[in-house]
Order: sequence, then structure tokens, then C-alpha cells
Amino acid sequence: MAEWPAQLPEAVTIVEVGPRDGLQSADANLPTAQKVELIERLVAAGLRHIEATSFVSPRAVPLLADADQVMARVKREPGVRYIALVPNRRGLERAIAAHVDEVTLPISASDGHSRANLRRSTAEVLAQVPELVELAHGHGLRVRGGIATAFGCPYEGVVPVERVLWLTRQLVEAGVDSLTLADTVGMAHPLQVEELVCKVREVLPPGFPLGIHLHDTRGIGLANALAALQAGVTEFDASVGGIGGCPFAPGAPGNISTEGLVYMLEQMGIRTNVDGEAVEEAARWLHGRLKSETDARSQEGYR
Ligand code: COA
Ligand code: ZN
Repeated sequence: MAEWPAQLPEAVTIVEVGPRDGLQSADANLPTAQKVELIERLVAAGLRHIEATSFVSPRAVPLLADADQVMARVKREPGVRYIALVPNRRGLERAIAAHVDEVTLPISASDGHSRANLRRSTAEVLAQVPELVELAHGHGLRVRGGIATAFGCPYEGVVPVERVLWLTRQLVEAGVDSLTLADTVGMAHPLQVEELVCKVREVLPPGFPLGIHLHDTRGIGLANALAALQAGVTEFDASVGGIGGCPFAPGAPGNISTEGLVYMLEQMGIRTNVDGEAVEEAARWLHGRLKSETDARSQEGYR
């Protein structure tokens, strides 16, 4: 049994992923100006790590086809890391040209999700990581490796822990600067989170930054976040208003909400440096914008 109260950190980092994970699968496509406004509202709320978009194939994710314009227009605040997800060299080159600070390289622990998401096996995706890391570092970009389906796969079911540990070692060797374990469709439970985080930390170099990316499919997202916190995770992905979901993972609803996570952590005395009420206000604004875009589209006669 773990000791209670558990050793908890004084502060954690929240990575806001709503503009990427949320908007990639939203019911409506926001105009570019509103995507920019969303990012700026989140920065104003105190968020310092924002996954702002992804540079993927516009055919795969039409809702983020304006990624280059979003990054060109967004007003950069000093001290904020603007992050973009990139699936390949082409995406990384676009990210470099757009002057992002950091990239997320997604790689699925399961081949089934890897093929659905990136049309390549895990090994094929892994093979390109060292050269992508080198290119990113050469341009001063930090790289976070995102292990998708770390807690289960919508196509394959159980993902063996050994597979995640193997991928962890490979990604560290390839030179990524941090790792994020993703529960892509929200299959994890707290004991599983605690176990996997502890095992992954055992194979990571001491002090290596480890984050978690949770989806709240069954209402246990924050319970999983608490388990991760107690197991030593200090970096949490979350999305404004709890929007989100991978379009290539059936049944993936939203991420844990940023405002819910901020509330939980602050009430527990853990600093986030984020104004939870301002995030709630941004969430209300965003839901209103998405609703009016959806209404406008259905009035035009197509859905
Ligand atoms: N940005 C823009 N266009 C890209 C691109 C990128 N990063 N990568 C590929 N393309 C374009 C190619 O130029 C090509 O265009 P063309 O048909 O007009 O010539 C087309 O996409 C196909 O390229 P190819 O390399 O054969 O890609 P693919 O069809 O095998 O698809 C991915 C592979 C990775 C590009 C695609 O599956 C993808 O973007 N997936 C992202 C999924 C995602 O975002 N999931 C959620 C987050 S994890
Ligand atoms: Zn996600």
C-alpha cells in the first residue's frame, strides 16, 4: 500500500491541447480567426504550454488544414511554448517554417491504431524518429514523444506493458526530450495508470520529463490524473471545455478538461499558475462559437 498522504509535487505543468486534439474532431470548423482567438484566450488564462495545431495531411484532418495560417496569425507571448503535432518530415518542415517552439511526435504502441492513424506500422513510424529529432533539434525545437494507445487500443484491445516499455526505450534512444503516455480512447483505470507510470519511470533516465494525456470517456479521467500524479507524473495534457478525440480512434471523446484539472489541483494545494475561471470563460465562449458554426452549417442544408 502506498503511504497516505502521498508525496505530491508543489507545482505541475498543464499542456493545453484543445486547439489541436479538440478542434481536429470538432462538430464544426471554426474560422481561422476564432482558432487564433481561442489560443490567445488560453494564453491570457495563464497557460504556458499550448498544443496549438497539427501539421498533418489536410486530407486526413480537414479541420486543421489552416494550421500554417493559425501559427502565422497568433500573437506570440514571451514565455509561452507553442507546440504542434507532426506525423512526418513534411509536417516537421511546416512546423519549423511556422516557428513553433516544440513538436509532438505521435507514435502508437499498437500497430492497429498506428496504421489507422498514420498509415504505417509502429516500427515504420519509429524508424523515422531519429532523423526527425535531429532536424527539430537543429532548428532549436524541443521534441515530445507521444505514445498513443499506451493503455489500450480500440482495434487490438489490450496493449502489453512490455510493448510500451520497449517504445519508451526506443524513443529515449532516438533523442526525444520528454515522453507523454496517451490514453487515446480513454480505456485506462487508476491502478493501471499507476502501474504503467511506475514501470515507465523505471526505464527512463532519472528526472526525465514524463507526461500523461487522458481522455474522459467513462468519467474517470480525473481519477486517472490523480493516480498519475501520485505515481510521479508532472506534466498533464488537458483541453479547454473537455473537447477532443482522435478521428482515427473510434469512440474517442474529449480530453480531461483543463478547468476541471486546474480546480482539482489548486484545491489540493498544487500550483498550476492557470486561472481556472478564465479557462471556464474560454470554454463557454468556445462552445458558443462551435454551436453557431454548427447551426449555420445545418441551415445551409448540409451536415
Ligand atoms: N502536411 C501536409 N500534407 C501532407 C503531410 C503533412 N504533414 N504529409 C503528407 N501530406 C500529403 C502529401 O503531400 C500527399 O499529398 P498529395 O496526395 O496531394 O500528393 C498526401 O498527403 C499523401 O502523402 P503520403 O506521404 O502518402 O501520406 P499518407 O497518405 O500515407 O498519410 C499521413 C500519412 C501521416 C500524412 C496521414 O495519415 C496523416 O496526416 N495522419 C495524421 C492523423 C492525425 O492527425 N491523427 C490525430 C492525431 S495523432
Ligand atoms: Zn487525445
